[in-house]
Amino acid sequence: MSTLVTNIGELATNDPAAPDLLGLRHDAALVVEDGLVAWTGPAGEAPAADERVDIGGRAVLPGFVDSHSHLVFAGDRADEFAARMAGESYAAGGIRRTVAATRAASDAELAANVDRHVAEMRRQGTTTVEIKSGYGLTVADETRSLRVASDFTDDTTFLGAHVVPPEYADDVAGYVDLVTGEMLAAAAPYARWIDAFCETGAFDDDQARAVLEAGGAAGLRGRLHANQLGPGPGVRLACELGLTAVDHCTFLADEDVEALSGSGTIATLLPGVEFSTRQPYPDARRLLDAGVRVALASDCNPGSCYTSSMPLCVALAVREMRMTPAEAVHAATAGGAAALGRDDVGTIAVGSRADLVVLDAPTHVHLAYRPGVPLVAAVWVGGERSG
Ligand code: NIG
Ligand code: FE
Repeated sequence: MSTLVTNIGELATNDPAAPDLLGLRHDAALVVEDGLVAWTGPAGEAPAADERVDIGGRAVLPGFVDSHSHLVFAGDRADEFAARMAGESYAAGGIRRTVAATRAASDAELAANVDRHVAEMRRQGTTTVEIKSGYGLTVADETRSLRVASDFTDDTTFLGAHVVPPEYADDVAGYVDLVTGEMLAAAAPYARWIDAFCETGAFDDDQARAVLEAGGAAGLRGRLHANQLGPGPGVRLACELGLTAVDHCTFLADEDVEALSGSGTIATLLPGVEFSTRQPYPDARRLLDAGVRVALASDCNPGSCYTSSMPLCVALAVREMRMTPAEAVHAATAGGAAALGRDDVGTIAVGSRADLVVLDAPTHVHLAYRPGVPLVAAVWVGGERSG
C-alpha cells in the first residue's frame, strides 16, 4: 500500500546536503510505503500511488524526537511548582518525593502513566521519545521502571544514579557500588543507555564516571545530566568520555564550550526546565556560534519541568535562547535523532521512517510565531496517520 502525500506548501527535510539548515522544499510531495518514505520531490513530478492525501498547502516536518524524558513516575509535585513561582528555588531533593510515590505504585499504574504521557506527546508531534528510569532507585524498582518504559520505546535509559535514595544517605559509596553492580546487571537487559545526574547534591564527577564506565562495559551507551544547577565538571567529563549527549548545559564556562566544540558530544538543551524553575536559560547562541551541535528536548518529569510539549520547547528556544526558528526546529528533530544516535528518524528522506508532523500553518516559523496555539494538525508514525 503506497500513499502519495501531496500539496505540501513547505516540507522541512533536514537534508544535510541542502543549502539551508532545514532543507526546505516548496510545493512538494512524498510517497509513504511500508512505513517508510519511498519518494520525495516536486508535487508536479509525483509518481502514482494507491491513495492520495492532500495537505492543502500546509507545512510538514519530521516528527519531533524528544531525546530526554522521565516518564516512569507516579504522583504530582504541583505544590513545589507553586512554591517556586512564589520565590522558592528548585531543589533536586524533591526527586525523593517522586521516588516514594513511584515505589508505592503498581506496574499497571506506572504503565498507564507512561501511556498517558506518550499519547499527550504524540498529539503534539513527538514521534520518537527516550524514557529514563530514575524514580525507583532499588534493583527491583529500577528494573521494573525500564521494563515498563521498554513497552513504549527502544530508547530506554538506566538512571539509577539520579539521586542517592534515603536508605543510602549515609553510604553514598555503597549506593554507587549497588548501581554499578547488581542494579546495572538487572537493568541492562532493558536499557539502551546509561545516564547519571552529575551535580552538587547528586553525584560528583568521580561517581558519575564510575557509573558511566560500568554502563559502557555492560554494553550501554552514555549520556549525562550536567551543569543544570550550577557550574561543574559534568560537561567536560561527558566530552572526555565521548558520550553521545550531555543534557541541560545551563551553566557553562568557556572551557566547557571549548570541550563541546572539540567533541562529537551533543548539547541537549531543555528550556522547559528553565521556564519551570525560573533559572536563566542556557545560551544556545553561544554554543551554536562555537560550532556545537545542539538538540532540544522536553525533560518531561514531575519536578523540574512538567511539559511534554516540543512545540513549547521550540518557542522558548527561539524567544529565550536566541535560536532562529529553523535552528530550533532542526534541534528538535535532527538534533534529537543525533542525540539518540538514530539515523532512521529526524529527517524526511528516502528510506527514513515515515514520521511526519502536519502543521495547521504555512511554515515551521509559526511554531514560535504562534506560541501556545495547538498547530499540530496530524501526526504520522511509521506511515500510520492520526489526526
Ligand atoms: O532532568 N536533573 C535531574 N533530574 C530531573 C529532575 C527530576 C525531578 O525534579 O523530579 C531533570 O531536571
Ligand atoms: Fe532530566
